[in-house]
Amino acid sequence: MAKPDLVKEVKSKLDLVELVSDNTNLSGNKNALKGLCPFHNEKTPSFVVYPDKQTWRCFGACSTGGDIFNFIMTSENINFPQALSIAASKAGVKLTFNSDTERDTHSVENANEIAASYFQSLIKTPEGLKARNYLNERGISEEIISRRGLGVNYEGMNTLVDHLKSKSVDSSSAIKSGLLVKWNNNVWKDTFTNRITIEIRDENNKLVGFGARALGQNQPKYINTRQTQLFNKSKVLYGLNWAKNSIKESGSAIIVEGYFDVITAHENGFMNVVGCMGTAISDDHLKILDPLCSKIILSLDSDIAGKKATYNNLIKIIRNFEKPDLLHEKIYLCDSDKDNDPDTMIRENPESWKSHINDTKSLIFYLIENIDYSYNLSDETEIIEASQSIYPIIITIKNSHEQNKAFDHLAKKLNISREKLQLLPKPKKNKRQSKHIYSQSWQNNENKLDEALINFLITNLELIESAKTIIDPKYFSPLYQHIYEKIISDVPLEEILNNMKNSSDEFTLELIESIFNQTQPSSSHESKITIMNDYIRRIRERYLKERKIETEKIMKERMVEKDKNSVQEWDYIIEEAIKDNQEIKTLQESKN
Ligand code: GTP
Ligand code: MN
Repeated sequence: MAKPDLVKEVKSKLDLVELVSDNTNLSGNKNALKGLCPFHNEKTPSFVVYPDKQTWRCFGACSTGGDIFNFIMTSENINFPQALSIAASKAGVKLTFNSDTERDTHSVENANEIAASYFQSLIKTPEGLKARNYLNERGISEEIISRRGLGVNYEGMNTLVDHLKSKSVDSSSAIKSGLLVKWNNNVWKDTFTNRITIEIRDENNKLVGFGARALGQNQPKYINTRQTQLFNKSKVLYGLNWAKNSIKESGSAIIVEGYFDVITAHENGFMNVVGCMGTAISDDHLKILDPLCSKIILSLDSDIAGKKATYNNLIKIIRNFEKPDLLHEKIYLCDSDKDNDPDTMIRENPESWKSHINDTKSLIFYLIENIDYSYNLSDETEIIEASQSIYPIIITIKNSHEQNKAFDHLAKKLNISREKLQLLPKPKKNKRQSKHIYSQSWQNNENKLDEALINFLITNLELIESAKTIIDPKYFSPLYQHIYEKIISDVPLEEILNNMKNSSDEFTLELIESIFNQTQPSSSHESKITIMNDYIRRIRERYLKERKIETEKIMKERMVEKDKNSVQEWDYIIEEAIKDNQEIKTLQESKN
């Protein structure tokens, strides 16, 4: 059943007269309007609408009536909830159902809150001393215990099962909350016993579940609420309730692995930290953070097994994520200290953790640099798989200079030439992604320039010789360099085009199609040269501008690193930057 006030609100925002008028012509006075009944065939009007009361009635064959919802139900032949949903969308009212599931969720949340108070009161009792001592040794004071909602539950004693009963939590909610586990037949016992309990709240502070750490060495070290209607580990980030504002303000979020990493970070002023609770980062985690910030830093496990898992997980995310360009722009990684997790590092020296999280690598750099975590590069087929796993993300890099560098980096890591890399089979397109990849990267206006010039040259073959002397392939976007190289080579054009058209890979085919779809202005020979020169000038200008952005990035990084031992390299970068600037200026002047 829908909430009565919601129904009222939808009703108040709609006008029955307007709605009926879409179906039949009404006339009469403002107390009663008459028309032909939309629900049965008739020649004289027997259908009446009462505007004041917002009701209707058919005095003819239907002999029914009602309010606006009955009208929608009858005309669409649907039930009330469906009619309400149509009406609500017409009225621009968002529906929240006070349905069984909602009531259920509410009682599960209530059971969780009661359990949390119970665990937190236990830790304050004399029986809680062992737990308090354990936490104090970890640098967690009584004050922090309360602030972070830590508690304890022992075995034996008056258990949570009894406590929930005494608080009139019905057994079904207690079971649905995951707080209880079946022991034998119909006996239920506490899920979390002999453990420190940790509240897990979602970004809106709703208590969705618990984590629980063993007090001693017993295994498993941690357990958490099983999947319930409120709790799903892949959809919750631990500590987001505390971190949300800071993530928004600072524009960045840091994801760490453990509960205590999060708590220690927050207690030491690192307020934009959230935890993935040991589970692999999921699409959903990223989607939660995406609207809040522009940078997501992963500070994850650094042993080899952990790194491998992170690597493979990232590749998996790239393969399925709807917006791979977003991954490239937002995700950064920092190489954690081998022996220390954030909790230990921060407690030892918060400053060192600060510099650690400032030393980040872009996703693409990280993936290429560590490609051998996942692939055996002495195996020819794995080299192909490796390049295919990275390809979808490289092509989303918008700055072609940066993209070029990534291709160079990849070729170097795979120990093959750029030429060979280009010729490796491309991955199969992912249906979910393809549309987005194409519209965002290849089809962007900047790349249209490459396509336009190549199209222009193959429709005006006589210009190829002169193009060859004035523009080098390196100025093209990496995806087009190879094509341009072929066109200016001595191979007959016919042969090149046939080869390309027979290519079996979807990426190349779509690129070729896009080139052929360019339209060019028809023109005299004189103006053809002007058109070509203009394309070339714009491509060179783009190249220089993008290189400038890259150089500035490098300069900024160097300044952060205070890298003084490469003065010569520094001088070289500055010299190149000045040259680029001059060239951009000359190109812009030549425009006029
Ligand atoms: P402490 O020893 O308490 O500092 O734990 P930690 O956080 O340093 O441990 P670790 O790096 O091993 O684990 C990181 C996170 O993974 C934990 O905070 C838990 O969320 C999760 N985790 C670790 N071990 C287990 C386990 O055995 N079971 C489950 N379900 N989660 C675990
Ligand atoms: Mn730890």
